[in-house]
Amino acid sequence: MALLETLNLSKSFGGLQAIDNVSLRVDENSVHGLIGPNGSGKSTFFNLLTGVYQPDIGSHISFNNIDITNKPAHYIASQGLARTFQLLRLYGELSVLENVLVGYHPHTKYGPLAPLIMGAEVRRQDKLVKEEMMDLLEFIGLAEHAEIPAAELSGGQRRLLALGRAIAMKPKMLLLDEPGAGLSPVNVDNLMATILTLKERYNLTIVVVEHILKVVMATCDTISVLDHGQKISEGSPTFVKNDPAVVEAYLGREMADEDIRAAMNS
Ligand SMILES: Nc1ncnc2c1ncn2[C@@H]1O[C@H](COP(=O)(O)OP(=O)(O)O)[C@@H](O)[C@H]1O
Ligand SMILES: [Mg+2]
Repeated sequence: MALLETLNLSKSFGGLQAIDNVSLRVDENSVHGLIGPNGSGKSTFFNLLTGVYQPDIGSHISFNNIDITNKPAHYIASQGLARTFQLLRLYGELSVLENVLVGYHPHTKYGPLAPLIMGAEVRRQDKLVKEEMMDLLEFIGLAEHAEIPAAELSGGQRRLLALGRAIAMKPKMLLLDEPGAGLSPVNVDNLMATILTLKERYNLTIVVVEHILKVVMATCDTISVLDHGQKISEGSPTFVKNDPAVVEAYLGREMADEDIRAAMNS
């Protein structure tokens, strides 16, 4: 079953067609890769799905059988479509635990006045939520750092925390924009392994943008390839890797990234 489906999705910025008529479906419980050269529209695609940008007229996006085209970002998030950002957005001065609690917030049952009305019950709920979030921190290996400010974490730990915060929202689908950016290849491998474990544990469907192609090839069930905003290829990792259109799209560019070369040659 398709959990997410776009139909003729387009987005132009002035004269630039950043996303050009992309129809794409993501099956429930799959790990779906989204790759393409720099500037091919991957982040824009995520921004359209999550309501950060409004798509051009004629575009359709459905999620979990609900039409989310032109819906506001908070509504889309509340339907269970969560994301992490290419640039981290953590609250550096807040503790690690507080950062995941921020993610959890939309699920708390009680409003801001509730403590006045029914203190004991709210405190009990609070305690349960904290336990659950500690469980999550345990799982991503940050439990022992729960009380320190997020700013004191290493780069890799911050990546994990951003992931933890998105998972605290209890999404059905998680969009990951370059989760391995800035990490060494070994750490990226670890991160992807963690992501796959989290997927099983929290029953997630994942769409991942990652420029280290080796990682995408190893972890994704299906891969879609964007070039100049258009979907130029789609299929299994093996299919995509051998698709001349994909090789062409990458080879046309400056080959600064050795991983791209390695992935294409392997
Ligand atoms: N807010 C914006 N305003 C104008 N142009 C944008 C905006 N966001 C993205 N773009 C342009 O859209 C194209 C695709 O960008 P992006 O989605 O960030 O690519 P990718 O994530 O694949 O590297 C680029 O040419 C980029 O400059
Ligand atoms: Mg991007």
